[in-house]
Amino acid sequence: MDIILSLHSRLAYVVLTVLVLALLNGFWGLLAKRSFGNRDLRLSLFALIFSHIQLLIGLTSYFVSPYFSAWENGMGAVMKDSTLRLFLVEHPTTNILAIVLITMGWSLHKKATTDSKKFFRIAVFYGLGTLLLLSRIPWEQWL
Ligand code: HEM
Repeated sequence: MDIILSLHSRLAYVVLTVLVLALLNGFWGLLAKRSFGNRDLRLSLFALIFSHIQLLIGLTSYFVSPYFSAWENGMGAVMKDSTLRLFLVEHPTTNILAIVLITMGWSLHKKATTDSKKFFRIAVFYGLGTLLLLSRIPWEQWL
């Protein structure tokens, strides 16, 4: 199942890049008091779609990862080992929460009645989601 893990690893570059572009575009649009146009909509939507694809591949990676068998030794053994805890508990839970925030940002931006509110919601929710993602990336193994 190396193909799934490799896809998850490579897609992470795309997801993080598009998310950072979308959130910077949000802050920039807000500060420049621009109107929220088609380009802004598409960039935010791309970031949402890529995050969701990565979430699905991440969920699959979880069960095919060599780390998964560590659960056989019980919860205590997983929690005591910082690497296992990162891959089996912290990375998945934090990243699911991050995608929830990003999805909330997308839905709330659609409900917003002014352009500045749209930019604000994308910027803040995508920003918080991205910070959460960055906080639990296994940097040493990835790069
Ligand atoms: C947008 C969300 C996510 C991003 C950006 C992300 C990113 C990454 C990155 C960069 C790695 C390291 C890959 C490598 O070592 O080459 C990784 C590994 C992993 N991720 Fe995610 N991930 C996300 C969501 C998830 C979710 C939701 C789950 C599970 C529910 C998950 C499960 C895993 C597992 C199990 C590994 C370890 C795979 C292995 O090396 O055996 N990921 N992830």
